[in-house]
Amino acid sequence: MSNVLRALCQCCYKNVLVLFSCVETTYASYRMNTQFTFNSVTDLSVGVGAVDQLGAIARNLNAERLFVVTDKGVLEHGLLDGALSSLQSAGIGVELYSDVIADPPEQTVIDAAERARLGGCDSVLGFGGGSSMDTAKLVAALLTGTQPLSDMYGVDQLRGGRVPLIQVPTTAGTGSEVTMVAIVTTGESTKAGVVSRALLADHVVLDAQLTVGLPAHVTAATGIDAMVHAIEAYTSARLKNPLSDMVARQALGLMAPNIEKATHQGDDLEARSAMLLGAMLAGQAFANAPVAAVHALAYPLGGVYHIPHGLSNALVLPHVLRYNSSAAAQLYCELAPLLLPAGSGFSANTIGDVLAEHFLALSNRLGLQTQLRQLDIPENSLPDLADDAMLQQRLLINNPRPLLREDAVRIYRQAF
Ligand SMILES: NC(=O)c1ccc[n+]([C@@H]2O[C@H](COP(=O)([O-])OP(=O)(O)OC[C@H]3O[C@@H](n4cnc5c(N)ncnc54)[C@H](O)[C@@H]3O)[C@@H](O)[C@H]2O)c1
Ligand SMILES: [Fe+2]
Repeated sequence: MSNVLRALCQCCYKNVLVLFSCVETTYASYRMNTQFTFNSVTDLSVGVGAVDQLGAIARNLNAERLFVVTDKGVLEHGLLDGALSSLQSAGIGVELYSDVIADPPEQTVIDAAERARLGGCDSVLGFGGGSSMDTAKLVAALLTGTQPLSDMYGVDQLRGGRVPLIQVPTTAGTGSEVTMVAIVTTGESTKAGVVSRALLADHVVLDAQLTVGLPAHVTAATGIDAMVHAIEAYTSARLKNPLSDMVARQALGLMAPNIEKATHQGDDLEARSAMLLGAMLAGQAFANAPVAAVHALAYPLGGVYHIPHGLSNALVLPHVLRYNSSAAAQLYCELAPLLLPAGSGFSANTIGDVLAEHFLALSNRLGLQTQLRQLDIPENSLPDLADDAMLQQRLLINNPRPLLREDAVRIYRQAF
């Protein structure tokens, strides 16, 4: 299984997990599953200044020496200052590791775990974006000393559990703080993932103050990604359920009215709080009702042309919404009041076009590119991109409407 998993993106891993859980769970219907499993973290502390509780949280977990996993950017922005002083006041020893790099290579995780072991650490804090939090998950597992990383890849391969783990996101997008997945880079461009319930943290702290310095283009792209997590979870063909629906709707209700404010007035704490909470809720939604064609078509844009994940999603989203509307109109109509300005007109016949135009206009206002040609993607590469997208069957099986290669080519052409 681990070989099969090596070439998949983070969203695919969940789908592999889902395939497995299908074996033991039956689902009543496409529209409303009444038998389902919903996994998430147990404890969440949310609020501006919540990071001051870290000392008490660590003490409750019986931590004595905490390994803090972060990256240089987070450290240089001074984001850790409040956390470290709270831990110090609580008498918790700290070993700081700030060498995480984006899309962390396998070796970074192994080096970090070695540092934690040498430092005598008994617990782990992930503090930063998805890269730091994923590294922290794996260090917490490696610290038990029961299994090498190479043995953990795949679904439920992690056998030895983990030491206590706290997660503090400083970006509002991936939802990694509430997923049971950790992704590492294993080769030039190959990624591998560990999927295990053991990777769900003991405690997650959401403090929007930490996100005020996120640059505008990162806020916009990661925010759209989080909104896509919620939209695709709500329309997920097989595993949507009452709880994933609830968190997806709540996520969109928070993010839709705030993404522009958070992007253009980065110090607006109310908008930042809504985005951080919304992205976490969207993470809970797609962790249990997996994403589909938007992510399947976005993935090759990142893999081949290194376009940031959120922007890749934004580029294909309007066209996938239009394509899916013949199958998902009812669900899109249910989401429309959360997404569109009050008084917007729509019907089941027009909702695909209305949402597509809405997201195109939103991307423009957010300063995101809206066409593949603006990113120097050659037109003659579109069929190859479609071939790549077809490899993402684990995502495509969640799409409300079947999507074939010629559909993918057409969607890329519309996005061109
Ligand atoms: N585990 C999961 O469920 C899951 C899901 C999606 C993505 N991921 C993984 O997450 C990673 C991407 O995470 P990401 O998008 O959060 O980015 P990231 O963690 O790679 O961070 C990107 C950059 O943003 C900077 N940064 C972070 N917070 C900041 C802040 N508040 N102010 C200013 N700068 C800040 C960092 O220093 C870094 O330079 C990838 O490795 C991806 O594979 C994991
Ligand atoms: Fe995503």
